[in-house]
Amino acid sequence: MKQTLAILKPDCLQRNLVGKVIDRIEENGFEISGMKMIKMTKEQAEGFYAVHQGKPFFAELVEFMTESPVVVAALRKENAVQAWRDLMGATNPENAAPGTLRKEYAESIGRNTVHGSDSDANATREIAFFFSESDLILTQKG
Ligand code: CMP
Repeated sequence: MKQTLAILKPDCLQRNLVGKVIDRIEENGFEISGMKMIKMTKEQAEGFYAVHQGKPFFAELVEFMTESPVVVAALRKENAVQAWRDLMGATNPENAAPGTLRKEYAESIGRNTVHGSDSDANATREIAFFFSESDLILTQKG
């Protein structure tokens, strides 16, 4: 079993879509090993998205991710990174496949409802960014 980090972004909470997104996570067989609601600070958002520093959308991204609370979750499943990316759909909702979360809910490439890690290495880094080992429940099934 692998893990990935999901973030339910500010636009998701602002439009009361948390329940719908979690429903889809559970329906698709992910195990939630950690979950919390936080209001990201500017420093946290800049650190989390450090890889995008210098890109034209960086300031807009940090501004958006700090405008209101988010839900961060560690998800476990076989091939968790790819499975969560498949459920999210393409970053730009215009390119997202029917039935994906971003096709259904995202407003734009910036306000795109959910985040997911893009590799196992980044998943490990991103989960550790928000959760300590003791926060993570290893299995709900005994
Ligand atoms: P996410 O998966 O959270 O990782 C980086 C984010 O940057 C991405 O989702 C988008 O929301 C955002 N992003 C990428 N490209 C652009 C862009 N051209 N304009 C605004 N935001 C962008």
